[in-house]
Formats: sequence, C-alpha cells, structure tokens
Amino acid sequence: MTNNIRSSFVAQGTATSEADRDAYKLRGLMPAVVETLEKQATRAFEQLRNKTSDLEKYIFLAWLRNTNTRLFYKLVMDSPEEIMPLIYTPTVGAACVNYSHIYPFLGPNGNFDGLFISIDDLPIIDQIIENYKNSLPSSEISPDIAVVTDGSRILGLGDLGVGGMGIPVGKLQLYVAAAGIDPRKTLPICLDFGTNNQKNLDDPLYIGLRRNRPEDPEFYQAVDTVLASLNKAFPKMLIQFEDFSSEHAFELLDRHRERYLSFNDDIQGTGAVILSGFINAVREVGIPAKQHKLLFFGAGSAGVGVAKQIMDYFVLEHGMTEDEAKRLFWLNDSKGLVTLDRGDKLAQHKVYFARDDNEGKQFKDLKETIKHVRPTALIGLSSQGGVFTPEILELLAEINERPIVFPLSNPATQAECSFEQAMIHTKGKVLFASGTAFPRYKDEQGVEHVPGQGNNMYIFPGLGLGAILARPSRITDTIIYASAAALADSLTENERKSHLLYPRIDRIREVSAVVAAAVCRQAVKENLATEPEILSILPVGETAEVGTPAWDELIKHVEGNMWKPVYETEIISRM
Ligand SMILES: *[C@@H]1O[C@H](CO)[C@@H](O)[C@H](O)[C@H]1NC(C)=O
Ligand SMILES: *[C@@H]1O[C@H](CO)[C@@H](O)[C@H](O)[C@H]1NC(C)=O
Ligand SMILES: *[C@@H]1O[C@H](CO)[C@@H](O)[C@H](O)[C@H]1NC(C)=O
Repeated sequence: MTNNIRSSFVAQGTATSEADRDAYKLRGLMPAVVETLEKQATRAFEQLRNKTSDLEKYIFLAWLRNTNTRLFYKLVMDSPEEIMPLIYTPTVGAACVNYSHIYPFLGPNGNFDGLFISIDDLPIIDQIIENYKNSLPSSEISPDIAVVTDGSRILGLGDLGVGGMGIPVGKLQLYVAAAGIDPRKTLPICLDFGTNNQKNLDDPLYIGLRRNRPEDPEFYQAVDTVLASLNKAFPKMLIQFEDFSSEHAFELLDRHRERYLSFNDDIQGTGAVILSGFINAVREVGIPAKQHKLLFFGAGSAGVGVAKQIMDYFVLEHGMTEDEAKRLFWLNDSKGLVTLDRGDKLAQHKVYFARDDNEGKQFKDLKETIKHVRPTALIGLSSQGGVFTPEILELLAEINERPIVFPLSNPATQAECSFEQAMIHTKGKVLFASGTAFPRYKDEQGVEHVPGQGNNMYIFPGLGLGAILARPSRITDTIIYASAAALADSLTENERKSHLLYPRIDRIREVSAVVAAAVCRQAVKENLATEPEILSILPVGETAEVGTPAWDELIKHVEGNMWKPVYETEIISRM
C-alpha cells in the first residue's frame, strides 16, 4: 500500500483514476477531468517551450520532476534532443553556478534534490541516511545507485561548493532516461565540506557551509565515514564518484574501488567513451595501430584516465606490451610537454606517461610539440577554448591523411576547437569527437557532416545498469574496457557508412542495453557477478557472443529491467 500519495513518484495529477480520487480523498483537489500522460505531456511541452531562457527551462523541468516524476521523464524520453541539453550539459552548468539563487522551496516530501551531507553532520550520518529512507514512497524501495560529489570541480567551472548538487541530480536523470534505471532508486549526494570559492563565501544567498574546505587527511577521513555508513545501510548500492578535484578523484577511486561497488565517471567513464570513439577512428584511418601517436593536451584526472584506457586497447587488441603501448602517448600540461627531466616535481599521476626521449629538450609551445611528436591524434582535455587554432589544425592535416582530433573540454566555450573549425582547417579530413555538442557542418557541396560527440552518456548509464543487474563485487578495468568495446561495436551498418564514430544519440536506450549486457557478461566471465538471475541466464563459462541465443536472452533480460515512464491505472494496486 502506498504511504505517500503526494510523492512525486506516485502522483499522477489529472491522470489520477476515478477510483483513486475516491480512495485517497482527492475529489475537488484537482479538476474533474481524467487525462492521459500524453495529454499532460502536451501541456507540459507547451509550458516549457514558452520559457525564454534555458535556465528558466531548467527550473521548470526541475519543478516538474519534483512534482510528477513520470511526466518529467515522459518529456525527456519523447524529446531527448531537446530536453537532455536542458537538464544536463550545457544548461546544468548555469544551474550549478546559480544554484543558491534558484534553489526551490520544496518540502521533504520525497520531493527534494537529494542528500546534503554537511561535514558538521558526520556524527549523525546514520540518522541522516535513516531520514532519507523514511522519505521514500515505500519501505520496499532502496537505492540502487548514488552519484556523489563534493562540488569541488564542477564541469570546467571549478569549485561551486554545494551548487555542485546540480550534477548528481542531472546525472542520475540521464541514468534513468538513457538506461532505464528506476528513478526512485537513484540517490544524488552532495558532500558539503565547505568551499574555497570566494564568490560563494561572499554570496549572502549561498546555501552551503560558509568556510574553506578541509585539509586532505580530514577530507579522506570524512569521505570514508560517509561511504562506510552508506554501505552499511545499502550494501548493494553502486557508488559513482563525480566531479571531485583531480588529485582527490584518483585517490578516492584507488582507495575505495576494491571495497565498494564503485567507479568514477570522470576518469573511467570518460576514458571508456573516448576509447570507444578512438577504436572506431583507428578503424577509419586504416594505418596499423602501432603507428599511432597520441598527444594529450591537458593532463588532469580525465586526461590521464583516458590515456590509460586507450593504452589498454593497444595491449588487449593489438598484443603490445604495456611498455610499448605507453610509448605511444605524450602529455602536455600547463608547463608544457611532460618529461622526466623538466625540472619540476610532477604530480604522481603524470609520472607514468612522462617522456624520457626528449634528449634534454623541453617543449612549451603546442606547434613545436606537434612538430616534435608528429601525432596521429590530438586529444584536448585542457578546458582552454580555441587552443587548437587553424594553424594547429592545418599542421595536423599536413602530417596525417586523416587526423584524429578530439577537443573534449566542456562547455562549448572551453572546447579546444569547434567542429566547423576542424572541418574547415583540415579540409574535411578530420576524424572528430568533442565533449560538448556541436552543430552539424554543411560543406561547400552542401553535404551535411555529423560531429562525433564523445558524450559520457554512451557509457555510464549502461555501465551502471549492468553493474546493478549483475552486482559484481567490484568494477574492474576489464569490465570498463568491455563496456567501451561494446559501444564501439554497436554502430549499425548505416552509421558505419556515414563514418560516424558513435551511434546516433536517439538510439541511446538500445545502446545502453548493449553496454549493460556486455558489462554483465564480463562480470560473469571474471567470476565477480553475484545476482542469481544473471547467473542463471549466463552460467560461468558461457561466452554469449553477440548473435548467439545466450546473448539475445541477456539483452532481453536487460531490456525487461529498464524502467519506463508509464502510469498505473490504479495507484491503489501499486504497492
Ligand atoms: C505559449 O505561447 C503561445 C504563443 O505565444 C500562446 O498561444 C500560449 O497560450 C502560451 N502558453 C502558455 C502555457 O503560456
Ligand atoms: C547565473 O549565473 C551566471 C554566471 O554567474 C550569471 O551571469 C547569470 O546572470 C545568472 N543567471 C541567473 C538567472 O541568476
Ligand atoms: C601545454 O599547455 C599549456 C596550457 O595548458 C600551453 O600554455 C602550452 O603551450 C602547451 N605546451 C605544449 C608543449 O603544447
């Protein structure tokens, strides 16, 4: 029996049945008409489209989600190309920056953004988690997945303190929309450990702790405490770390990935998506894998994470040793090309790829570096808009028949170059994937070209769903690799013919199911899966190649577990 008729997860508004209106004493509290979800969606779209700014649209959609969750997801799924950019990047950036100003006045009726865990509240952390449990519409529901941030490095926007909450909230909406994870089982968490952003501290409306962030020992201790309590309350829950500052991101992942079912999307998810686009780019270029040379512009957590995963590709698919593969990579950070003898103390995560073959010469300028390295692929994760200048792009096109250029920084203003620039200055030769969405490009013959977008959304929703369905004891690098390989192989004949590096985004649910199935299969292969249902479909030792009945059954199981926004005829019979 439902205990919370007003919960946004249960509410159906004007689609509440006659019987429910009687049963829950709702007569007169809404108009007499009984409508369908479709009709409500038509009205909601009209209201949405009449808003003049993207931030207003964001606010409207957030309100809708917290009022009638299924209607909200109906909009997302009916018109993903329109809604996704409003609930996640790029609009979510503006929402996070302004979070303390747009924060809604919502009550704790199941209709709140997520859990705010202040560092001052750690002594009562178990109580906080208990309060969350009590807010759920039914005691049978427990979260399958939490996205956790401390707001310290939100997109390319830096430390936004508690404003970072917009990211776990938005990200979990993508898990729901793209992979059909049940929204009632998603838990956004913002760790409010203070902020070092003076703008926040000076803003009278700032809603987070008004103090600087703790030093490392206290930080790690605090995160440990939170994770231990979450694990005690929800032992099977998947944790996704999100938008922590680079140093912390690596350390947190290392510290916890063996202990808890967890992954970091900025490191592993981004890496897997880029890897997948890179696999397809290498197929397009057609030169032997060993002849590739990759120059990474930007060597933060994302950069090094991506590089390590692409390395796996050379090792696993092309039989190279780790050392051979490592030598195909060059990193550039704010001080120039990362070399062992540069004379500064390298951050630990950069040492691995630091070069020793620069013969004492240091490179501080991108053009010089490109002439030195002669990369087949230039990958930007620097958050510096426009640094891949026309000159740089022309140089790459001189060196390569088909240069691979991946300007991955978000948002568009920080992307290293646009699709249009890359097309123009390589004379259409570029194999392109960006982090942010760019418009199509029409060439002089009037032919339209579709830019590849290395959108994280191709991997994390399916990876999350696979992890929830198989519940491996941990997420290994090889599971992540399997998700990337599955994505690369998911292109249709038609998509290949159009030289796309990624599937069309409107196939996202289909693609997520394939990724999730590949994750389940790999978890079983590594003997880590614990969910009995998966093990009965796919006994240990079953390889389930694509095209076999075992694979089809796995896909069917995954798809059967994907949530869709539909109403109950009667809420009464629901729980
Ligand atoms: C939206 O705008 C259209 C055209 O201006 C108008 O006819 C309609 O009534 C508006 N709807 C809402 C909900 O504001
Ligand atoms: C949101 O934040 C940006 C950047 O600080 C600011 O320019 C803009 O005016 C804000 N918008 C609103 C509606 O507060
Ligand atoms: C590396 O990147 C920095 C900015 O992050 C830039 O100033 C520098 O010129 C680049 N160096 C090379 C060698 O590309």
